[in-house]
Amino acid sequence: MSIPTGTTIGAYEILGPLGAGGMGEVYKARDPRLGRDVAVKVLPAALAADADRQRRFELEARAAARLNHPNILQIYDVGQHDGQPFLVTEFLDGETLRERMGGAPMPVRKATELAIAFAYGLAAAHEEGIVHRDLKPENLFITRDGRLKILDFGLAKLTRPDAGEGTGATVPAADTAPGAVWCAARSSIIARTSSRSAPSSMKCSPGSAPSRVKAPPIR
Ligand SMILES: Nc1ncnc2c1ncn2[C@@H]1O[C@H](COP(=O)(O)OP(=O)(O)O)[C@@H](O)[C@H]1O
Ligand SMILES: [Mg+2]
Repeated sequence: MSIPTGTTIGAYEILGPLGAGGMGEVYKARDPRLGRDVAVKVLPAALAADADRQRRFELEARAAARLNHPNILQIYDVGQHDGQPFLVTEFLDGETLRERMGGAPMPVRKATELAIAFAYGLAAAHEEGIVHRDLKPENLFITRDGRLKILDFGLAKLTRPDAGEGTGATVPAADTAPGAVWCAARSSIIARTSSRSAPSSMKCSPGSAPSRVKAPPIR
């Protein structure tokens, strides 16, 4: 984490580090204009010169901006600071599922509630043609008041020509049928969560899309 507390990035004053993954450094910050705390995710200087990382970062912002759902991290703003792109999101107070898994066992009822909230968030992304592709406990956040948020669309794939317009990061039309979206999501989840999965378990047929999930989001 390379940005000192007190630095001003765009309109935001850095308050301290929140976390880091493979793509970014995330800081708690203050937006003095609106008097609220936010999270600022910065593409580290070492990666900012890499055109592909820059494009991915931009894509992450565009994917998140298409989504407005209580179980998906809300993006507010984007900008550049000393040649480093940054994006600004709602600040979440709580812990990642990875951190939560290190604590006391979770009651089955609560775990089920979170799993359902996760599924609704994911279904909302798929409705917009966005496949996350990096679903893991570090990218799922449980707020102090018990709500689940999906974070980090840094590896997302946009599966419809209109998704993330202008980025060129779409897949061919043949892959955009609902079944293909579901297959892409299922394959990426399996690929990333279980190195022991048999290759045959990752095969999909075009007819394997689930029926659409239509229900109110769980807050
Ligand atoms: N909005 C947020 N509020 C609080 N903590 C956050 C927020 N966004 C990310 N974090 C923390 O920062 C970590 C890394 O963020 P993430 O977006 O997953 O970055 P990366 O793309 O580098 O994996 C998360 O695992 C979480 O601990
Ligand atoms: Mg992450």
